[in-house]
Amino acid sequence: MSTDKRRGTIEAHLVEQQYYKPPDEFIEQANIKDPNIYERFEKFPEGFEEYANLLDWYKTWDQVFDGSKPPFYKWFVGGKINASYNCVDRHLSTRKNQTALLWEGEDGEQKNITYQDLYREINEISAALKSVGIKENDIVTLHLPMVLELPMTMLACSRIGAPHSEVFAGFSATALSDRVRDANSEYIVTIDGYYRRGEFLNHIEKTDAALEGMDERPTVLVWTRHEKPMVDIKEEYILLKDLQKEHKRELVDPVERNAEDILFLMYTSGTTGKPKGCQHRTGGYLAYATGTSKYILDIKPEDTYWCAADIGWITGHSYIVYGPLALGTTSVMYEGTPDYPHKGRIWEIAEKYSVDIFHTSPTAVRMFMKWGEEHLEGYDFSFRLMTSVGEPIQPEAWIWYYEYIGKKEAVIVDTWWQTETGGHMITNLPGISDMKPGSAGLAAPGIKPMIVDGEGKEIDREVGKAGNLIITRPWPGMLQTVYGDDERFISTYWEEFSDTNSSEWEKWSYKAGDGAIQTSDKYFRILGRLDDVMNVAGHRLGTMELESAIVEVKSVAEAAVASRKHPEKGEVPDAYVVLREGNKASDEIRKCINESVEEGIGKFARPANVIFVEDLPKTRSGKIMRRLLENISNDEELGDTTTLSDPTIAEKIRIQVHGEGGK
Ligand code: WT7
Repeated sequence: MSTDKRRGTIEAHLVEQQYYKPPDEFIEQANIKDPNIYERFEKFPEGFEEYANLLDWYKTWDQVFDGSKPPFYKWFVGGKINASYNCVDRHLSTRKNQTALLWEGEDGEQKNITYQDLYREINEISAALKSVGIKENDIVTLHLPMVLELPMTMLACSRIGAPHSEVFAGFSATALSDRVRDANSEYIVTIDGYYRRGEFLNHIEKTDAALEGMDERPTVLVWTRHEKPMVDIKEEYILLKDLQKEHKRELVDPVERNAEDILFLMYTSGTTGKPKGCQHRTGGYLAYATGTSKYILDIKPEDTYWCAADIGWITGHSYIVYGPLALGTTSVMYEGTPDYPHKGRIWEIAEKYSVDIFHTSPTAVRMFMKWGEEHLEGYDFSFRLMTSVGEPIQPEAWIWYYEYIGKKEAVIVDTWWQTETGGHMITNLPGISDMKPGSAGLAAPGIKPMIVDGEGKEIDREVGKAGNLIITRPWPGMLQTVYGDDERFISTYWEEFSDTNSSEWEKWSYKAGDGAIQTSDKYFRILGRLDDVMNVAGHRLGTMELESAIVEVKSVAEAAVASRKHPEKGEVPDAYVVLREGNKASDEIRKCINESVEEGIGKFARPANVIFVEDLPKTRSGKIMRRLLENISNDEELGDTTTLSDPTIAEKIRIQVHGEGGK
């Protein structure tokens, strides 16, 4: 596949794959086996009421959808609801003693939190949060790793109507403070530390550092991984365990939220340096996360369901916390990494809890594949359904996943969606359609994706040519806006393929930023981002964000980041760096660059290669041609270099990277 991102076209040479049928035993028990569902959801917007009806509302909506001010849509208008009530309280009458969250520590420690426990905890935490002054609509930033306190704090926030904004624990102090500032958040909830590969990581130091440059310091609330803190905690911070004890046995009524009130923010990378706060609404989001959990993940209350993602990303919000708990199932959380203390750790947990549904990413599948099937041997587990999410999965990896992990019995759903979409958008309904390795599948019920060329014209399925993936009809899980920046919301997602002067929603289409193909069987195959956003091991990274962190280093004059294909991680960032006069390339500078990225974003974003070059390829108007650097990183043909101000530069870099023998 070669990409020409600037023109939004992709040439794809893909081999068609055979179909795989879901087993009869699966179909018999599937939540959805009636193909009429697609017709039901054809009715717009009423179709989506089916999802909203899975929830308990204090007051039902007066209007399903208000599209009068595109793209600022409203869902379930007039409805009143509380997410925490739906995820916890409403299950007490039927399954209070069932495990809601099943937590496995890195060292094998186990905690089963029943729905009744969760109810108790969340009430006390809600009371504790209120006691420090947190009110309805205050945004609470969470910076928590995979500990039970993370979903519990999220649910306590939603109980009292305070939107949470969880910042993935791997993010650095700078990334944390950027997000706190952008959200004007006056509260941070963090933890002293957690375990990674046997070591206790000091986590609170990131909050300490984040606060340093702030004039108005947020109130900091601290969980502790053990009963007592393991590291120094600043005096002005509040220990949440102690505070919770002061509110023992207190009950806090869930706040009746308007369906359109904010449930949470989730920051994500874009094409500029500044992360975007995707703002999700309460009613529509919860309905969509719950409906897709039931119909696509086939979750039943009696299941043990394990989504091996981090709650710090949207996958964990929708499909570890909100969707599964709203359905009253048992959701597994694992603190550690898949290869610690051994490479069979995942299968050990799957066997221990007899996991029924397993949810992971292509990056993880490729890693398991590289480790080899011998690490699965001897573990007795059998999944009914497995998912793949976050990146395109190559057919070879899909087939390996199917054969060795699914044992040719589990159904696989490849689910395409985004932080912005709230839930699955393109995927098969597991009991209805055949699977096709490498294809995300069909449009989810009620979702209208389309492939268009650069001018917004639909590309005929029969032609099978790739183009821009857009969504032409609104859906309840979609983001409301970019927090505090309606203009950016419009310019990022809508401007390109909408008639922005129109007040008819039918004239507006959402741009996903991905390239895709739809084949004549209506299956979609996702090819990847068309913009300057990379997907590193399932983490979305903007090249601009990386570049800004790199140019922070004093000796660096200019930097451009290109995405290189990687057999396991999908993509990795290569940094092409021009030094200021008088500086020589050195390991010392390379180290500074890596450290600057770690400080600015987080360890997970470190460049795979730092390549010192004399100059960067630029157009005559001075724009860096990242595409050429990408071609070089991937050892592909350079293609057209005539628009460059100095065409020899790209060639020089190519020789520097690959020698005379490269392409
Ligand atoms: C981007 C969104 C969705 C939760 C995790 C990532 C890529 C996502 C797939 C898939 C091919 C996929 C797209 C998308 N992507 N799922 N099944 N097949 N690509 O959320 O960080 O918002 O990233 O991930 O490029 O735009 P995210």
